[in-house]
Amino acid sequence: ELKDDTIIIVLGASGDLAKKKTFPALFGLYRMGFLPKDVHIVGYARTKMDEAEFHKRETSYLKVPDNDEETAKKVEEFKSFSTYVSGGYEDAESFKNLNKHLDEIEGKYQGSGRNRLFYLALPPSVFITVGKGLRENCYATGINRIIVEKPFGKDTDSCRELLGSLKQHWTEDETFRIDHYLGKEMVKNILVLRFANVALTSGWDKNSISNVQITFKEPFGTEGRGGYFDEFGIIRDILQNHLLQVLSILTMERPVSFSAEDIRDEKVKVLRAIPPIQREDTLLGQYVAANGKPGYLDDDTVPHNSVCPTFAATTLWINNPRWEGVPFILKAGKAVNEAKVEIRIQYKDVTQGIFKDIARNELVIRIQPTESIYLKLNTKTPGLYTRALPIEMDLTYKRRFADTKIPEAYESLILDALKGDHSNFVRDDELDVAWKIFTPILHWIEGRNGPAPRPVPYPYGSRGPKELDPFIQKYGFRRSDQG
Ligand code: BG6
Repeated sequence: ELKDDTIIIVLGASGDLAKKKTFPALFGLYRMGFLPKDVHIVGYARTKMDEAEFHKRETSYLKVPDNDEETAKKVEEFKSFSTYVSGGYEDAESFKNLNKHLDEIEGKYQGSGRNRLFYLALPPSVFITVGKGLRENCYATGINRIIVEKPFGKDTDSCRELLGSLKQHWTEDETFRIDHYLGKEMVKNILVLRFANVALTSGWDKNSISNVQITFKEPFGTEGRGGYFDEFGIIRDILQNHLLQVLSILTMERPVSFSAEDIRDEKVKVLRAIPPIQREDTLLGQYVAANGKPGYLDDDTVPHNSVCPTFAATTLWINNPRWEGVPFILKAGKAVNEAKVEIRIQYKDVTQGIFKDIARNELVIRIQPTESIYLKLNTKTPGLYTRALPIEMDLTYKRRFADTKIPEAYESLILDALKGDHSNFVRDDELDVAWKIFTPILHWIEGRNGPAPRPVPYPYGSRGPKELDPFIQKYGFRRSDQG
């Protein structure tokens, strides 16, 4: 349930995340009528500016199309309940000053609630001091919640340290750790697809499925954020969180109920059945200049000899009765040929069949862009002879749900946090197992126990390293002529 009288405080209000995601999502929710009654939004950052300047910036984050008067009117309304406070991230005085502002706003409320949702759109270096400062100086009498987002450390130990420090101030129940992939429509759909369809449930195991790929592709490089990226690399940026989250929902057993704890219990259980990734199951790449685009190392903020991977493919195994022996290939690449995130489940060959050399069935869930689900089947070629023809049963959202606006991940997640629903947020123990799977391979990549491996080069704008096709074929993937 939504609590009236809530203040949403966005810390890091002039940063990239706030600009690109948080404010547009808050506005989207407001426009659709999903923000609580009497909501108030407070931006907080170090930059000193008056309210007029803040409102000007806020408007620019919301990108209202010209001549769209209705939206422009909504923006004006949105600004009327947004204010700004500037202050530091380290000192108690700043937080006391923020609290004074929050108290003043709450003084105007008629209701009895005093609810605060703190959104930390901040770099991890200040998570702990801000968490502490807010808890000690800005804690309200009603419900308090805090939203944080990755990176949650760099390996098992550093993650535990970070979580431990935050836990001194905020309980698990008050903490909402975002993995924004959990807010994406098609990721949320996995639960329904899997557990509301007998047709899919029955073949969802090693007996029917040959291999699974979860793929992330982005057609641009790390230009502009090379400094951050070089410290983390593609595995921490995408695989350890976004793709592993998708994998866990795809493979977990049926939760006892739809509740957050039951769902997350099952996710943790399946993740615990995944042993740490092996070097021989891993392919690393780094993009080089091509087609007039710069290589990864051409970025001034990247060390000239960096071996940081911008592409990784790695195969995970799940040691439980349902999935033993099925390879799950996670792959992610920056600066490749297209933007695409999808799950591809490839079924086994038809055995002992009367049909020879026919395409395998595949179920593809396209997460983005152009959300869709399609199932590759063989059907009889229409006509006076019998021949199997591979076709696609295609559920493209744009066609089937043409009038429905698909919500943004951040809209969905902020609404969940306002309601106190943890289902689509990452629990502490879930993070811990996720890091255990990836920590050894990450330490190897960083050369902690021997020379660091060299990623193979691939041209900017290509499909990825040329070693990729043999890599996925090694795990049984068979390309059908449908590509
Ligand atoms: C972020 C990564 O978590 O996800 C970025 O840090 C990446 O490198 C982004 O570009 C992708 O998100 P989306 O929603 O555009 O797929």
